[in-house]
Amino acid sequence: MDYLMITGGCGFIGSNLIRHLFLNSDFKGSIINVDNLSYAGNPENLEDIKTEFSNRYIFVQADICDMDALADIFDKYPVDAICHLAAQSHVDRSIEKPDDFIQTNINGTYNLLELARKYMIRFHHVSTDEVYGSLGPKGLFTETSLYMPSSPYSASKAASDHLVRAWGVTYNLPVTISNCSNNYGPYQFPEKLMPLMVLNALGKKALPVYGDGLNIRDWLYVEDHCRAIVKILQDGILGETYNVGGNCEMANIDVVNMICDILDKMAPTIEKQPHRELITFIKDRPGHDRRYAIDSTKITQKLGWKPEENFASGIEKTIKWYLDNQKWVERVQTGEYRAWMERQYKK
Ligand code: NAD
Ligand code: TYD
Repeated sequence: MDYLMITGGCGFIGSNLIRHLFLNSDFKGSIINVDNLSYAGNPENLEDIKTEFSNRYIFVQADICDMDALADIFDKYPVDAICHLAAQSHVDRSIEKPDDFIQTNINGTYNLLELARKYMIRFHHVSTDEVYGSLGPKGLFTETSLYMPSSPYSASKAASDHLVRAWGVTYNLPVTISNCSNNYGPYQFPEKLMPLMVLNALGKKALPVYGDGLNIRDWLYVEDHCRAIVKILQDGILGETYNVGGNCEMANIDVVNMICDILDKMAPTIEKQPHRELITFIKDRPGHDRRYAIDSTKITQKLGWKPEENFASGIEKTIKWYLDNQKWVERVQTGEYRAWMERQYKK
């Protein structure tokens, strides 16, 4: 891979992946980061990379729904692989306004597949375990689990997975797909559970837990996800899907309690008020999936990947990152973010 196109590289996982490729892997090529800088895209996540790797890092502000803009990039650069992360990614926003999810996640993926087909290049699609729907109290998602998405977000990701697979089968496009569980770590936009709770707690605001707080997610540190993506790009069998998970099932309320207890130590309030007192149970999310949990046996056995970070140290590192990066925090909490939070609290 000499010219790797990464879509959505200014988002949470995309920016961590670009940092990982330049700083912690043996990748020697150039990266073309294509991102339309939607509310979740922040070029500041990569300021240092832009300077340090100026001869190998190219940023193009473009919308993946704009086929002409994408075609121009292919005219200009000899792209030989695409790692596709650009998406509308937040379930609550998909419930409020599904349209953007249909456009970006389905039509945008279609555009990229068509360009990949024109040049017959490698295509890796970064997807989610949410395509499989909700688990009961037992069992794990495997690569052969049925697709049963519950939210507009997961349905749009499921649709994009199907397109990718079909382009592989029908046109022999060299594709792979990864379906990963919930990520956490630095640079995550504070609409998602962990950074939202950390920042609300620091601002002494209510910590809104949906429903009974007993919904379960399988948490994976973002750097572990990045290592999995790189392994699949390098050694993944074409046409295959790989499930990626943290083997770390946690109920939401336990995650929030942990965050509160860590903040009590790392950032105690003057009055020493326990952060847990801020926890507020609110109306449940419609269609809220009860439990996700991934069986990562395939990627472990076939590609030798397994998660390296443990949850206790990963969550501490993550909280410390938000405490140490107040400028980043202030800049992402724009008017748009505040308006979204107000709408959430009115639920
Ligand atoms: P994110 O919302 O933080 O980042 C998405 C990025 O895509 C942003 O930079 C945004 O500007 C960009 N983008 C959105 N629409 C675009 C468009 N039309 N054209 C170009 N760029 C556009 O999301 P994330 O959490 O980093 O997720 C990245 C990918 O990983 C997504 O495909 C998501 O479905 C998948 N995923 C996420 C998780 C998770 O826990 N966050 C887990 C599994 C899979
Ligand atoms: P989220 O980070 O939105 O990821 P996803 O919905 O894709 O799993 O939410 C993680 C879990 O936390 C999910 O069960 C919903 C819950 N949640 C809350 O209880 N309160 C919140 O404010 C948010 C954003 C999420």
